[in-house]
Amino acid sequence: MSVHNENIRRVTTQRLIEMKKRGEKISMLTAYDYTMGAIVDNAGVDIILVGDSASNVICGNSTTLPITLDQMIFLAKSVVRGVKRALVVVDMPFGSYQGNSKEALASAIRIMKETHGDCLKLEGGEEILESVKRILSAGIPVMGHLGLMPQSINKYGSYAVRAQKETEAEKLIRDAHLLEEAGCFGLVLEKIPAKLAQQVASELTIPVIGIGAGNGVDGQVLVLHDMVGLTQDFSPRFLRRYANMQGIMNEAIKHYVSDVKSGDFPSGMEQY
Ligand code: KIV
Repeated sequence: MSVHNENIRRVTTQRLIEMKKRGEKISMLTAYDYTMGAIVDNAGVDIILVGDSASNVICGNSTTLPITLDQMIFLAKSVVRGVKRALVVVDMPFGSYQGNSKEALASAIRIMKETHGDCLKLEGGEEILESVKRILSAGIPVMGHLGLMPQSINKYGSYAVRAQKETEAEKLIRDAHLLEEAGCFGLVLEKIPAKLAQQVASELTIPVIGIGAGNGVDGQVLVLHDMVGLTQDFSPRFLRRYANMQGIMNEAIKHYVSDVKSGDFPSGMEQY
């Protein structure tokens, strides 16, 4: 017996590939908890990413490296409970897949079993191909991530635009093809020249989702907290802020404090 809600047509990896074929752009945003997952899903986003950017925006770390597998599982479980339509992709955190493909599969299975997410995202190309293939062989859909890979910040030394030099661009194109041939259903390209991203998107049959990778790709992803202005200290050129939620919350909270201090809250109607 199926326990799925038959009235809602869920986004699947197959539907995303069809969207690319039709030229329909794909929207993707992050979420890290139940309430935000439900809001993002209700607004019609196609893919919800439980990103390891939670390490920055939720935990307050300066990089994505410290977030653990247990912490990612806790967040992803909460998001999944709020989502009815979107495809939920969970980031595999730093240290859970790079060293050894058997450990990678064990981490992947834990995430899938404990969170009920739909698929996983891993950063890297050739270096992690064995892990990607082993995870795929267990029937778990995988999304690749190339270009700026925040888990490798200590190797790069900065969050500057990647693949501007020919050798790095050539490696990125090779890696993108390797990931597609291995069976990945999609690819994120982060902070690379728009022309290169467009070339990759046109060469691959799987959807390519960009962040700071221009408009020639098959879809876009942003970090929710950045695009609604909950965070204000991060302003790369590629970020469009659609709201000033920090300002709105600040005003609301100041108003509440003032009402409590003055005795205006609670009123007679707000008590029993
Ligand atoms: O963790 C994250 O939010 C991401 C996006 C920036 C693509 O990987």
